[in-house]
Amino acid sequence: MRTKEESGAVPAGGDDLAQQATSYLRSRLPFAPRVGVILGSGWGAYAERPPLAFAEAYEDIPGMPPCTIQGHAGRLALTDRCGPPVALLQGRIHRYEGYSLEAVTRAVRVLAALGVDTLVLTCAAGGLGDIPVGHVMVVEDHLNVMGDNPLIGRGLPGAVPRFVEMAEAYDPGLIGAAEEVAHINDTRVHRGVLACVAGPSYETRAEAAMLRKLGAHAVTMSTVPEVIVARALQLRVLALALITNQAGASPEGSRGHQGVLAVSEGQEGMIGRFLDALMKRLAIGFEEILE
Ligand code: HPA
Repeated sequence: MRTKEESGAVPAGGDDLAQQATSYLRSRLPFAPRVGVILGSGWGAYAERPPLAFAEAYEDIPGMPPCTIQGHAGRLALTDRCGPPVALLQGRIHRYEGYSLEAVTRAVRVLAALGVDTLVLTCAAGGLGDIPVGHVMVVEDHLNVMGDNPLIGRGLPGAVPRFVEMAEAYDPGLIGAAEEVAHINDTRVHRGVLACVAGPSYETRAEAAMLRKLGAHAVTMSTVPEVIVARALQLRVLALALITNQAGASPEGSRGHQGVLAVSEGQEGMIGRFLDALMKRLAIGFEEILE
């Protein structure tokens, strides 16, 4: 009898590639990360704040897919300058670059294998309602409308469930921590529902109206696949979306990807202060390893 792989019914898994990246990083990282931060469009500069204990381009890490889009450096860095040991992924890869969701979510599996138990995902997003451009949305739930799911296929290796609970995917304790530090640091944050589309075309007016009607407050082309895999691996998840434009806006009001990058550049200072405070706040959960 043919195996499922031979029959062609199931996409090839990337376990070997994730394992390659994990063993390579294990032998080089000076300490193991407990927190992972994936820095999406507009958030990447945070990974350049010194001091870093390690930094290497994805393309030099065996098994890590390289980034192909502007604004995503494609580098993994490690720091403990705020307290907890944190792996910073400066840039992510997207399905619209032509990658499979297995490749898109590989970094999450590598982080979990390295010892990460808390994952902070960041992205740029188009606002669908009242959240102003330049503000941050703390994701409390999502709508996966990208037409795909990273758990489709032969399943993740090990005792990982295929039917993953998603009713409380975003950790209420982490949402509370993010709101608390935002309040102290004068960062404007709002809770909301994030819709995830495949992209790379932006939404039509009708699509933006539909997503609004469905209950989404912002829309992105990333993050949700990583959240699904992180929950399958039982990581605690926080997701933060920087509102860089209004989704479905007229061409005069939107400058596409350049506009997204320009808005985020203007928010680098705010993002740095907010993430630093958040990392320090997360240290409270890690006293036992920081002694
Ligand atoms: N739509 C989808 N993804 C996005 C947007 C948008 O308007 N802005 C930034 N990422």
